[in-house]
Amino acid sequence: MNLKEAKEKLTKYKQEHLLYYYDSLQAQEQEALLQQIEDTDFSVVTRLKGKEETKKTGKISPIAAMTLDEIRENADHFTETGLETIRAGKVGAVLLAGGMGTRLGSDNPKGMYDIGLTRPVYIFERIIRNLFEVVDVSKTWIHLFVMTSDKNHDTTTEFFKEHQYFGYDAAHIHFFKQDMAPASDYEGKVYLEEKGKLATSPNGNGGWFSSLINAGYLEMMKKEGIEWLNVFAVDNVLQRIADPCLIGATIERNCDVGAKVVRKNHPDEKVGVMCLEDGHPSIIEYYELTDELRNTLTENGEPAYNFGVILNYLFHLDCLEATIKKELPLHIVEKKIPYIDGQGNLVTPETPNGYKYETLILDLIKLLDSCLPFEVDRQKEFAPIKNKTGIDSVESARELLKQNHIAL
Ligand code: UTP
Repeated sequence: MNLKEAKEKLTKYKQEHLLYYYDSLQAQEQEALLQQIEDTDFSVVTRLKGKEETKKTGKISPIAAMTLDEIRENADHFTETGLETIRAGKVGAVLLAGGMGTRLGSDNPKGMYDIGLTRPVYIFERIIRNLFEVVDVSKTWIHLFVMTSDKNHDTTTEFFKEHQYFGYDAAHIHFFKQDMAPASDYEGKVYLEEKGKLATSPNGNGGWFSSLINAGYLEMMKKEGIEWLNVFAVDNVLQRIADPCLIGATIERNCDVGAKVVRKNHPDEKVGVMCLEDGHPSIIEYYELTDELRNTLTENGEPAYNFGVILNYLFHLDCLEATIKKELPLHIVEKKIPYIDGQGNLVTPETPNGYKYETLILDLIKLLDSCLPFEVDRQKEFAPIKNKTGIDSVESARELLKQNHIAL
């Protein structure tokens, strides 16, 4: 993109200020800035006035989950179906590791966090160990796609290499970068983080499938015969990946997606719960759950909205492809954004000064026709690390790992 084209694009989105320092930049920096302007999707900031677009508007009703009892009764059968599917090479896994992990307060990618006590045990290592459980049983390597972002790609790939992929077959691990979204002030003016660089932030975990396609992996997956993708978050160190039982159950129930869920441990737990919205599977965030919904009971007298998602989904690839042309709602989140002011000084704010723009994977569920909420035992499969201490922390995860006899 040349300067004239960049000016035209910026004028269209009222972002002309981004060229303010252009003349003072070196030729190489100018080129990089023009490239970034070309690559950036500024349309997100124009959606600022629709800030309410993520609110639930449809009719909410309960969705039945497959409970632990039901799963236990059919586990052998489901597992056999799942293993056959894995052995036929039809299952891939996608690790979402593009987040900033700000709550954990480390500058490194979250997966590099060492949770060991007597020896180093990295989060990435635990994930690979969990994946090995099914690789060992099925005697089949599973393609693992790891989503990173501009901010952590090199560190992540180097870390895996340095640790010899924790014993995994390097030919079956594929790294791809998620797209970045511009970060703006409250009026939608995009900040500069350097004189020749726009402030950006990873565009949320909802962008994973389009980023996977942009990286050219759809073709590859089809060639390999992959039909199902198990997508999961980096921070749950106890989760089972490509779980044959989940795969078998989702296939047998003929669902577009299987979602691992846990029973809420108290009515106010901060987790999104599964529901139907206008007949489509959907997720209500904890802050959207009204008292009326919270108090609704099923015929058996149990809370009707009691199964929380843990960000572990098994998607059918064809169903995902059908969602590509549909737009996900944008989540606009306040953030502290370091920026260059009008005098050329870098300002590092102590309080939020603008927005980041994200789409979320949970909104993808609503674009599908059918979902199987699949209950898992939270003591055995849910140890998320979001914070250093307290709820969902390094401490609580260590305790759960100990209960599951995993040495740290
Ligand atoms: P979180 O919602 O916990 O966000 O991500 P985060 O960025 O990791 O952490 P905080 O909120 O800044 O502390 C849930 C999962 O989605 C991934 C994360 O890496 C994690 O696996 N994610 C999140 C992405 O891959 N990209 C994103 O843009 C955001």
